[in-house]
Amino acid sequence: MTQADVSDRVVVGAVCDPVEERARAVAERFGVPKVFASIDELVGSGQVDAVTVASPIGLHFEHCRLALEAGLHVHVNKTLSTTVAEANTLIALASDCDLRLVASPGEILRPQIGRARELVASGAIGDVSWAICGGAFEAYHESEEPERVQSSGPPINPAWYFRKPGGGPMYDITVYALHQLTSIIGPALRVTALSGIRVPFREFQGERIATEADDNTILLIDFGEGKFAVAFGTASGAVSDQFGACVFHGSQGTIDGVLLNGEPFDFAGREKTLHAPVTDWGAQMCVLEHVVGAHRHIPEAHVFEDIMQLVRWVLDGEASKVTAEHARHVVDIIESGYRSAASSSTESLTTTFEPADVTLPVVTT
Ligand SMILES: NC(=O)c1ccc[n+]([C@@H]2O[C@H](COP(=O)([O-])OP(=O)(O)OC[C@H]3O[C@@H](n4cnc5c(N)ncnc54)[C@H](O)[C@@H]3O)[C@@H](O)[C@H]2O)c1
Repeated sequence: MTQADVSDRVVVGAVCDPVEERARAVAERFGVPKVFASIDELVGSGQVDAVTVASPIGLHFEHCRLALEAGLHVHVNKTLSTTVAEANTLIALASDCDLRLVASPGEILRPQIGRARELVASGAIGDVSWAICGGAFEAYHESEEPERVQSSGPPINPAWYFRKPGGGPMYDITVYALHQLTSIIGPALRVTALSGIRVPFREFQGERIATEADDNTILLIDFGEGKFAVAFGTASGAVSDQFGACVFHGSQGTIDGVLLNGEPFDFAGREKTLHAPVTDWGAQMCVLEHVVGAHRHIPEAHVFEDIMQLVRWVLDGEASKVTAEHARHVVDIIESGYRSAASSSTESLTTTFEPADVTLPVVTT
């Protein structure tokens, strides 16, 4: 089942997880009629028209590929894939099979981001010279231990967040910042990076997990015409207390997330966010189109918005502004960063994307 406001548009037809007990518990809790223990069974079942892929990031490519090859539309959680080559394959498959592919995170949908883009473009902070953004692992997935232990079936081990492929803070957390950054100032051209491991072991339920994927990466990104950004996916630290936010420095001021020179700027729907501090990432999502009623109280409501983008695209033919081409460009930045760090050279990006046309209501700052 789904919430009443969308149940005439989309229903959950099946849940798939190799830990069948876990899938069964979710199905019972939410009234889902079918359970599958393998993606092959799911995509071949004829039970669903579309999937939302929420498996570990290193499995996204394979799971998206199998779904598209089976003729299913796909929403995939961040990050789309770990390489540009994989992203190319998925985009081509979707196109060849006339299927829809929506890749989270749809940061471009947030009016806060659209307004920041307008402010930067209109010269509100003068000529932008550089920006800084990113995210850090801290003890994030280790601190999820209570929820991971409470799940049905065996505890959900977060080890994959620290392993390749798909582990590390770049694909998990910095991806949000990179979507914001490129939504606001457009596609990048080149990347130089340093990358390594700072926390060699993590722990889950007393088990020592060796860190294999870099957990401390700093990128220098070239946008051309002397405009640069620093993007970090580090073991610790932050530059803004707004999650994923970019700080833009211009000749006449600074934008830090939703603050213009230290003061909140206006954006469509801002009045709905005033009950919570700007640092409350979840509360700020209530400005998204489909995040209304009960959806305002679910964790990670932005994922629901991205799923509804796919639903609308499939049912009404209205193409989503959350594009796989944008997600591929972000994958390119991350992958090129790792290549740069390994080769000690600057890497040229091979992808670009057309920034979505987000028409916003006129607001004052
Ligand atoms: N944890 C978060 O805060 C968060 C937030 C937003 C998005 N996401 C995204 O959600 C996805 C999952 O993250 P998570 O933290 O929930 O991971 P997790 O490790 O907690 O759970 C992963 C689930 O995938 C299942 N799984 C493993 N292999 C599978 C397979 N072959 N087929 C189907 N299912 C399989 C596991 O059994 C487990 O139930 C990732 O794409 C992540 O980027 C996570």
